[in-house]
Order: sequence, then C-alpha cells, then structure tokens
Amino acid sequence: MKFMIDSVGNHFLGSDLKILSSFQKDVKGEKHASVDHWSDKGLKEEIHALKAFKTFHGDKDEMLSFTGATGETILVVGLGDKTKFHAEDLRKTTAKIFKSLNPQRYSTISFSIPCFNTVRDEVKTAQLIAESLLMTDYSFETYKSKKAPKAELTVHLSHVDKKNNLKIEKALQSTKNICESINVMKDFINEAPNVLHSEEYAKRIEADVKKNLKGVKVKILNKAQIQKEKMGLFLSVNSGSGYEPRLVHLTYEPTKATSKTKHIALVGKGITFDTGGYSMKPAASMAGMKNDMGGSATVYGAFRAAVLEKAPVKITCILALTDNAVNSFATFPDAIVAGRNGKTVEILNTDAEGRLILADALDYACDQNPHYIIDAATLTGACLVALGNQVCAILGNDQKWIEEILSAAKHQDEYMWQLPIINEWRQDIKSKVADLKNIGTPMRAGTAIGAAFLEEFIKNDVKWAHLDIAGVVDAQSHLPYCQSFGASGLLVRSLTSLLVHGK
Ligand code: BES
Ligand code: MN
Ligand code: ZN
Repeated sequence: MKFMIDSVGNHFLGSDLKILSSFQKDVKGEKHASVDHWSDKGLKEEIHALKAFKTFHGDKDEMLSFTGATGETILVVGLGDKTKFHAEDLRKTTAKIFKSLNPQRYSTISFSIPCFNTVRDEVKTAQLIAESLLMTDYSFETYKSKKAPKAELTVHLSHVDKKNNLKIEKALQSTKNICESINVMKDFINEAPNVLHSEEYAKRIEADVKKNLKGVKVKILNKAQIQKEKMGLFLSVNSGSGYEPRLVHLTYEPTKATSKTKHIALVGKGITFDTGGYSMKPAASMAGMKNDMGGSATVYGAFRAAVLEKAPVKITCILALTDNAVNSFATFPDAIVAGRNGKTVEILNTDAEGRLILADALDYACDQNPHYIIDAATLTGACLVALGNQVCAILGNDQKWIEEILSAAKHQDEYMWQLPIINEWRQDIKSKVADLKNIGTPMRAGTAIGAAFLEEFIKNDVKWAHLDIAGVVDAQSHLPYCQSFGASGLLVRSLTSLLVHGK
C-alpha cells in the first residue's frame, strides 16, 4: 500500500474511487444525510439529483456509491452524529470501507480528509486512516496453495491543508513503522507451532533485528547458558521439550543517552505451544495454544516499532522461549524447583508454566537495572472470565507506572483495566514445603494470583507492571481492523506510544 498526500486544489488526482463522508443532520426530528461540507459543488449537485440519496440517512457506516461525471466511483459513507464520531470510530469505519472494496476493481483510491476530520486535526485524521488500512490489510497465507490476489493499492489522502503536508508525511512514516511491526508480530503468532519452536523463533527474531534494527544489541542464551544463569524454573518448563529453550536479550540505547536516560525493560512470555505438560489441557482447550507466545511477540513488536521510531529511552527486551510439552523428562506435578533468585517453588500444576518462565526472566531483567518493567503474557484463562476477550488486565507494584500505561492504552483506544493484588492473594501462593507454589485456590482470582507470583521475582525496587493478554491476543470480532481469526496485533500501539512519547 502506498500513500500520497494531495493538498487542497489538487483534486483527487486520477483516483478510480473517491471516498467522502456524509454527516447526519436533525431536521425537525427527522434524520437526514448532509453533504453540506463538500467543497466540490458539481459533485454536490450530482448526489442531490440521485434518487437513492432520498433514502440515504447518513447513518454510521451506511454506504452509498454512484458513478461520478468523470467515470470514477464516488463512495459516500455515513458517519452518523459527527459529534460522536471519535478516533476509534474512524479506524473502524475505514476498515469497513477497505473490506467492502473489490481489490480487482480499484488500484487508486482517495479519501477526502476534511470529510473524515471529526477529531478536528487533519494530521491525526490522515494518520488514523492510514493506520486502519495498514492493520486491516494483513493476511496470513503462508500455507495457502492459492493466495488471495493482491494488487498494490495507492491511497490518496486528499484535500489537506498544504501547511500540514510535512506533518502528515512524518505521521505516515511513524504509522508505517508501527503497522509493519504489528504485522511482524502477527506473523510470529500465526505461525504454526511445529515450525515456530523456540530455536526457530529466536533465529527469526535475530534475523529481523539484524536486518531492520540497526544498533540493537542481540544476545541469545542457549540451554547451557540458561543453566549457567540458574534459571531452574524456566528450565523446568523446558525439560519436557524436544527443543532447547532460548532467552532472547535485546538492548537499544538512544543516541543521546545519558546516565539520566530512562531505562525500560520489556519481558515476554514465549511459550511456542502450551500442552499443559503432565497437567495436560483437554483437547478443546489445547487447540489455539500456539498463541501462548503472544506476550513475547507483543513486546517484541513494541520494541521493534520503538527502535524504528528512535524512542528517547533505553529499552531492554527479554523473551523467554520454550514450549510446554511432555516427554519422560517433563516436570512432574509436586516437583520442587529453585528459581534464579533462589526462591523454591512447588510446581503443583505444570499448566501454570507461564509464571515459571517469567519468574526467571523477570529476575534476569531486574539485573539489567531498568527503572521500569512491563511484562506481557497470555498468563491465565481466568483473565477471560474476568475481562472477556476484549480487555487486557494490568497489575503491578507501582500505581503511577500502572496509570502511565493505562493512559497510553486509552490514548490508543485499546481496552485495559487494572485488577488488584491483595495480601491475602500473596498468602495464597505460599507453599507448605517450599517458599512458593505455582497455583492458588482453584477458581479464585486466577489472574491476580498469577501476578502475585510474578511479583515475588521483582527486586531492586524496580517499578513493575504485568499485562495479562490472554483475552486480547487473538481475534477481536468487534474490531474490523483486526482479522477475523488469528493474532489481533493489539497493544503494540499502546506500548510503542508509551516508549516513544511517554504516554
Ligand atoms: N496459556 C495458559 C492461559 C490461557 C488460557 C491463555 C486460555 C489463553 C487462553 C496458561 O499457561 C494456563 O494454562 N494457565 C492456567 C493456570 C492455572 C493452572 C492456574 C489456566 O488459566 O487454567
Ligand atoms: Mn499453561
Ligand atoms: Zn501458557
């Protein structure tokens, strides 16, 4: 997809399809479609002459198309009440428009930016349209013998005020960086688990960093090195696997880093497949568990975008990669294992494996001396019970840090909600025979219990927040810019915005 910026006067250069909006106007209690805001008088007359316009109400996402005087298609999209048409509505409407297009029919389309500028900011409007198009225009077809035909689409962002051209150009470049990173992380999540095992996943990340992220330091720990680090909990999850574990350690420093530069560590759960181990999942809950590396893909996506965007903070990215499988070396329930920080854990349920690998990864991350940590993980099914599959849970040890992340999510219209960690739940993971156990009371506050466990592995007063993305990692039927199946790509936007703009 290619974007062109057309200023006022440079009308819709050679587009096969011109996209305009219609607002809804209340006339004596009746809802009417209005195109009073159109600058093209000829076009206005054309639409008013249309019979179909009489029954067009300009309701949200109602569409009307006709052939214009010069042969191009005019698509008019209703925005409903324009005072209630916010940024997220624009993302959704744009995605619906894109999906309604026949890719064979149009190679050049144009959006009239003033028509969609309900946020009263042309730069933001253009950026939101581009962002939505780039997110919607993704498909995972690696294993399809017949791939859907795909022509390169040129999108004109038209009728913008000339003085905004440069700003829009800059915004589009950022949007491309972010959306490309979203697509990279979606590819990782959607990849089959027989292909994307821990060793292959680490290789692909390394290749992507080497190719696209100049200046980023890559360190990948293999099994022997992970043993040397005494990451007993991480290794206990890997012990039933046919593949070696990998700990990916990436470092980015801004060019003008000083001793005062903020240092943020991102930590991700990278279970390439979760069978549950000996505490095996029933078949119906096991299918789909290739997504269990979604946390690692999400933080990698954000790291990648933040580096491309030259974030002003130092970023360490730690990804713990392994599957959770069963062979004769697999960890038994009742096993007692010591973690990197020396705490012993009674592993009562091998399906609560995410917290085990993260425990060691978090302790390792704290040793890099970051000021802040964010970890992301598909940690608990309980998160889906608490918050559905639309809302990400956030928990942590520092309210200000949590609120900064919540505010970044709000800015990006990504749903995130805080859950508490209370002392009673901290008590619930104390073991009779070891320091900790890896599960609490069954069916009780599972998401927070998981977080309370992770908290035990944070040290040096690092401010830490945990994102449980079990719900939001895959298909979001309410978001037309996400695909109807597979990775959602959510939270890369929020995290990147936090890393780059601090909000
Ligand atoms: N990967 C799962 C959590 C999960 C479940 C993610 C459903 C997405 C959808 C995690 O490793 C797990 O199995 N958690 C257990 C924890 C329990 C044993 C305390 C769970 O949620 O059942
Ligand atoms: Mn599990
Ligand atoms: Zn898991």
